[in-house]
Amino acid sequence: MLKKIAVLTSGGDAPGMNSCVRAVVRAGLSKGFEVYGIYNGYKGIMEGDIKLLNRHSVSEILNKGGTVLGTARFPEFKDENVRKIAAEILTEKFGIDAVVGIGGDGTYKGLEGLSKLGIKTIGIPATIDNDIASTEYTIGFDTALNTIIECVDKLRDTSSSHQRCSIIEVMGNRCGDLAACAGIATGAELTITSDKLMTKKEVVDFLQSQRKQGKKHAIVIISEKITDVHEFAHEIQEKCGFDTRAEVIGHMQRGGSPTARDRITAARMGVYAVELLTKGITSVCIGLIDNKLTYNEIDTALKMPRKDSSNYVDIATLIG
Ligand code: F6P
Repeated sequence: MLKKIAVLTSGGDAPGMNSCVRAVVRAGLSKGFEVYGIYNGYKGIMEGDIKLLNRHSVSEILNKGGTVLGTARFPEFKDENVRKIAAEILTEKFGIDAVVGIGGDGTYKGLEGLSKLGIKTIGIPATIDNDIASTEYTIGFDTALNTIIECVDKLRDTSSSHQRCSIIEVMGNRCGDLAACAGIATGAELTITSDKLMTKKEVVDFLQSQRKQGKKHAIVIISEKITDVHEFAHEIQEKCGFDTRAEVIGHMQRGGSPTARDRITAARMGVYAVELLTKGITSVCIGLIDNKLTYNEIDTALKMPRKDSSNYVDIATLIG
């Protein structure tokens, strides 16, 4: 019989994680579990940074960005010996039977490792990147997208006043969803993701043709990890005479109070995680498909092919 469950957040933080932690804690308590918070992700297990939580431990966190549990990137957890120690700490020191991990695919890999050592696990997708193949939506994406839109709208004001081209790099890891959706929502003249790459020459030719048609300014949104946008801006300026600036929005995209969509999705997923545990369903990760909650085995989810942002980029390009 399941008695003690724990919740952790791991990897890059995402707005809505707190709503999810709160939901897991409160739903878990209502099912009669003892609920523990693991601080700073998998690193926190190794450090025994684990505390018993109650309803009030998660009061007034719903609207806060980041994660009150803290998070960490902890590559050491890839080592099976480290995971064995972690599993021992969880079971022998704390008597914890199950771990709900909130994060991206790095988090899922850690959960998969713990599952193999007999810990019951549930993964909840939370990353601004929306790059988890087993779900159409990851907690944090909507808030990050809205932050990007706000920044791009502001950049367009100044870019159009100065008749400039702005190259704006957004996060997403290897997934183009943030860039592509931002491209649609801000009317970017060009949107470039790793699914829809353009050569530098194609970009320069496009911008030159726009200028010939009388376009006085341009917004180019590009996913991170494609090129050095500062060098790229310099090249554009040299080749087409467009006064060009590069902006990397950066970690600002990960912060801020979660939107309604992120709060509600996070709460639904947190409650669902507890429901799955009470039904004895474990070693799975939650997904949202057609707005319905679903689950997949974690190892199956990790093998699914990468998402493709091409459809959204096509829309952005058609109307940009
Ligand atoms: O996974 C979320 C994310 O913000 C990615 O978009 C980005 O590539 C990465 O994390 C940045 O990681 P860090 O905060 O460790 O530099």
